Amino acid sequence: MARKFFVGGNFKIRKQEGLHDPTPERHAEKNHNTHRNGTSASVKSIVENLNNATLDPSVEVVISPPALYLILTRELLKGEIGVAAQNVFDKPNGAFTGEISVSQLIDSKIDWTILGHSERRTILGESDTTVASKTAYAIANGLSVMWCCGESLEEREADKTVEVVTKQLDALKAEISDWSKIVIAYEPIWAIGTGKVATTQQAQDVHAAIRNWLKTAVSDKAADETRILYGGSVNEKNCGELSKQPDIDGFLVGGASLKPAFVDIINCQQ
Ligand code: G3H
Repeated sequence: MARKFFVGGNFKIRKQEGLHDPTPERHAEKNHNTHRNGTSASVKSIVENLNNATLDPSVEVVISPPALYLILTRELLKGEIGVAAQNVFDKPNGAFTGEISVSQLIDSKIDWTILGHSERRTILGESDTTVASKTAYAIANGLSVMWCCGESLEEREADKTVEVVTKQLDALKAEISDWSKIVIAYEPIWAIGTGKVATTQQAQDVHAAIRNWLKTAVSDKAADETRILYGGSVNEKNCGELSKQPDIDGFLVGGASLKPAFVDIINCQQ
C-alpha cells in the first residue's frame, strides 16, 4: 500500500522569519507585530501564508503551534490541514494542574498530538515509559500521534543509534497494539535545530531499521502502512533528496515550518 507523504510543522516557541509581505507598510506592521517568539500575530501570519498557498493535495499536512494558539489556529486554518498539540496528558479530566487532556483537545477539534519529542525527553525528563503511556492513552481516546524517537550525538558516535531507537520502540510496543494512528518521527537529537542534517544515507538506514523492526516486532501490515518521518534541520534545499528515499515518508519540520519555505517542503515531491 502506498503511504501518503506527511509533513508536520512543529512551531516550538520560536521566532518567525522571512514571510514575504506585500507592501512596505504591511511589512512594517507585521515586523512590529510578529517577529517575536510565538505570538498570536506570528501564528496568524503563518496560517494566512498556508491558507493562501497552493499545496500538493497528495501530501498530508499537520501543524503544531504552542498550546495557547491551538484553538486560534484551528479556527483560522483551512480544514484540509490538521492541527497537533505538542504534548498531552495520559489521564482523563481531573485535578491535574497545568496539564491538557485528550478530551479537551478533541473538544477543541485538535486531532493530533506530538509525543516523545527529544526536548520533552531530555529537558522535561519524560522516560520511554511515560511517552509510551501518553501515546497509548492518546490513541485509545481518539487522537493521532506523531511519536518521536532518536539518538544523541554520543549514542550515534558509540554506534548505538539502532539500539536506542529499538529500546524506545519496544517501550511503545509494550503499551499499544493499534499502530494505525501513529506516525513515527525519527529525529536524531544532534540534527535538531543545529543545521546539521543527517545525510540521506544516515536517515534512510535508520528508517529502514525502524521499518524492519515494525515487520518483525509488530506485523507486515504495520511495516507497510506506518509513515516514518525524518526530523532534524530539514529545509527547502535538503528535503528533495531525503524525500526520494524508500523509507522516508515525510518530515517533521521545526525552524523551517515558521518560514514561507515550509510550503516548498510540503511541495517537495512535485
Ligand atoms: O520537531 C521538529 C524537530 O525538532 C526538528 O527541528 O527542523 O528546527 O531542526 P528543526
